[in-house]
Amino acid sequence: MSETHFGFQPVDETAKSHRVREVFDSVAPKYDLMNDVMSLGLHRAWKAYAVAVANVRPGDKVLDIAGGTGDLSRAFARKVGSAGLVVHSDINEAMLRQGRDRLIDEGLALPTLICDAETLPFATGRFDLVSVAFGLRNMTRKDKALAEMNRVLRPGGRLLVLEFSKVARPLEKAYDWYSFNVLPRLGQWIAGDGASYRYLAESIRVHPDQAELKSMMKSAGFGHVDVHNLSAGVVALHVGIKC
Ligand SMILES: C[S@@+](CC[C@H](N)C(=O)[O-])C[C@H]1O[C@@H](n2cnc3c(N)ncnc32)[C@H](O)[C@@H]1O
Repeated sequence: MSETHFGFQPVDETAKSHRVREVFDSVAPKYDLMNDVMSLGLHRAWKAYAVAVANVRPGDKVLDIAGGTGDLSRAFARKVGSAGLVVHSDINEAMLRQGRDRLIDEGLALPTLICDAETLPFATGRFDLVSVAFGLRNMTRKDKALAEMNRVLRPGGRLLVLEFSKVARPLEKAYDWYSFNVLPRLGQWIAGDGASYRYLAESIRVHPDQAELKSMMKSAGFGHVDVHNLSAGVVALHVGIKC
């Protein structure tokens, strides 16, 4: 069994997916509130930017991977209309249930599917666009997941990866202080779980930076990859085209 990381801890690959599941089982009920508080609402702007870049059209077929509580799925569903398709998917049932309930409350009944990004249950070339927001970092075999995302896209289709990335150097110290001192306390106070938010801070530090992720996407079969830094690199949007 190969070794990987759960935050800063080296763990074997099977242990990682169990630990990630525990994190999202624990935070699911307060996930949306925590996102707003810890990012001061900025996650909404990052997601709105990704949706604007995606520029999906009525009739498009979209797969939202690691869709969680459904922010991107909801935005895409409004754009593709009744002729299109948005599949809201995630490996974690608790997160998916939160999302599905929220979408239904807002009048959107989307196909909702529990699935692992590393083995997608879809035919080759099925989608015009695949998105994964703040999910890739948690996956065990990121290269395998990226190859699967590539496989299910049609030629010319695009993958959007919105993820925490490498912050600009002048902000590093302040960002580290916030991540390791404030975030776990907020997590403890709001979600009753400081450890999961410490994992969040650690997982960002061991995630590939902008250049490395771009090269991983190219190796997975994306002929062209653009990188958009957001908030000085706190987050990056990678857009890959399946050529
Ligand atoms: C931080 S949440 C992001 C949720 C949502 N996309 C958003 O931006 O608010 C990360 C999600 O990745 C999911 N995830 C982790 N590993 C996964 C995998 N191998 N396949 C699919 N989803 C995965 C988790 O269950 C969790 O819901």
